[in-house]
Amino acid sequence: MTEHIKTELDAGVLSVSLNRADKKNAITQAMYAALAEATERAKADDQVRVILFRGEGADFCAGNDIMDFLSISQTSGDLVEMGVFRFLKALADLDKPAVAAVRGRAVGIGLTLLLHCDMVVVGEEALLSAPFINLALAPEAASTLLLPAIVGHARAYEIFALGEAIDGRTALNWGLANRAVADDQVDAIALDLARKLALRAPNSIRQTKALMRDTAAIWDLMQREAKVFGSQMRSPEAIEAFMAFTEKRPPDFSKAG
Ligand code: COA
Repeated sequence: MTEHIKTELDAGVLSVSLNRADKKNAITQAMYAALAEATERAKADDQVRVILFRGEGADFCAGNDIMDFLSISQTSGDLVEMGVFRFLKALADLDKPAVAAVRGRAVGIGLTLLLHCDMVVVGEEALLSAPFINLALAPEAASTLLLPAIVGHARAYEIFALGEAIDGRTALNWGLANRAVADDQVDAIALDLARKLALRAPNSIRQTKALMRDTAAIWDLMQREAKVFGSQMRSPEAIEAFMAFTEKRPPDFSKAG
């Protein structure tokens, strides 16, 4: 178990904290395994009524660890075997309420995770982005379906293709969040909402969520996205993007073809 994910169960709320603030809570393979375990526990454990995702430090999550991308790109295994997909499967299968508390950066899976949460509280100054194409990758977590369903095709396409961040107020206006509040209020308001949900009739709230989501379609799409993601991840254009990040320079796609 990694110290980069912390869990705490209190009054029916399982708080799951990303705890790697020096790397803006970028998620490693070990962290995905711990996130998957926590999400599977949330479903299986009757003591857990609600799961709450949050980040330690100034940021929610800077997405997948790019060094991990680089090392996985040198391997040949099926991406669906990776820790991230165990976590995504657990998210797709989760029938209990999920809440997120988002301050600072929410990048890549830091944004697409929110599409699986039922209530999201963002800081007004939060910055949400999904720069998969900037990394020469492809969107994941069924976000090719869920993001346009929430914000519309035009906005979703721009989020994917330009990779620019939207702030917390915009996220609220676009339907990605329930509340946009001062940064220092985010955790308390999200916890308050999670506690309220934890007091609701457990079967009723679970069945309502199940009726609102097509879990089989979500998991099917996650696997189709994984195939594209996996082939892109090993492409020369993605290797160039990962190297550019490690060398702190913009990527050069002019010779890619
Ligand atoms: N993977 C690995 N390390 C990461 C990371 C990631 N996804 N995101 C941030 N970090 C590290 C940085 O390398 C840096 O480490 P260092 O102090 O050892 O140099 C540290 O976290 C702080 O990040 P930094 O880039 O200096 O902060 P910033 O405020 O200038 O920029 C971001 C913040 C989020 C815009 C920038 O870090 C970034 O673009 N990260 C990559 C996001 C991304 O593309 N994720 C994958 C999405 S699919």
